[in-house]
Amino acid sequence: MPFAHDAPKAGTYLPVLEEIAAEISAMPGRGRSADYIPALACVDPDRFGMAVADLDGGVCGVGEWRTPFSTQSITKVFALALVLAHESGALWEHVGREPSGNPFNSLVQLEYENGVPRNPFINAGALVVTDRLQTLTGDASADLLDFLRAESGNAEIGFDLEVAASEAAHGDRNAALAHFIASYGHIRQPVPPLLDHYFRQCSIEMNCADLALAGGFLARHGVRADGSRLLSRSEAKQVNAVMMTCGTYDAAGEFAYRVGLPGKSGVGGGIVAVVPGRCTVCVWSPGLDERGNSVAGVAALDRFTTLTGLSVF
Ligand code: DON
Repeated sequence: MPFAHDAPKAGTYLPVLEEIAAEISAMPGRGRSADYIPALACVDPDRFGMAVADLDGGVCGVGEWRTPFSTQSITKVFALALVLAHESGALWEHVGREPSGNPFNSLVQLEYENGVPRNPFINAGALVVTDRLQTLTGDASADLLDFLRAESGNAEIGFDLEVAASEAAHGDRNAALAHFIASYGHIRQPVPPLLDHYFRQCSIEMNCADLALAGGFLARHGVRADGSRLLSRSEAKQVNAVMMTCGTYDAAGEFAYRVGLPGKSGVGGGIVAVVPGRCTVCVWSPGLDERGNSVAGVAALDRFTTLTGLSVF
């Protein structure tokens, strides 16, 4: 057994997931799909899936829990974990750990704060993380993909090159962020290939089961699916803490208030949440609120922690 525990098996959560899916299906006004990446704009905002993975790799779900979707910013968690696994605390010289209180793609704080992004989950900080991963591995997006395939047990996971190209074609803001940070020396790789890695990273397609399983190391306090250790217990706590405070951008306070778990969202409509020592949850519904978080996804996680009593508080 890779991780000693007495946490419940995934199937235990199925009645709760079924109750949540029924509630969500009756929920009006479930937001709008991301429209700034044309390849995501055409996805029906009302689709819904949800999965829970236990600590042993068991998984159960409801709705479209096996339908692949664009992971987008959820991948920022995994990139951060890989960098910390390679170089521990050195990253924090180049990126902070404070909530930004600003939209995920904002530029406004960077000049005041000497090109050091507030945290690794806003786009500015994620570009720094991908830069570090590229320096450490020589192929950041491929390294990340390998990790996600291994942790989820799904070798079919891949990039959606149409989404990556669509994002590159509308990528002026990310390019501006990367060049600006590079001017302060916090990005070392040449910006154009770095952006390619970042866009490919965001384009990775996974389903709710894949993501819940891939996030398992955060529930297992740093231990991977095969029982080896990726992060120290303390580093796993750090990643979870940054997810809690920064994982849903300028809505992180509201997310903590409603859900009470570390969570990371993406504009594809996915959210991964972690119950340390217990399970990981992934929900997908593409309709977003004005801050880029899934409306039904946050509502479903809110109900999950209310119905189960599981939260870190
Ligand atoms: O950089 C971007 O704009 C996207 N590829 C990722 C943004 C994202 O998912 C923000 N999260 N809610």
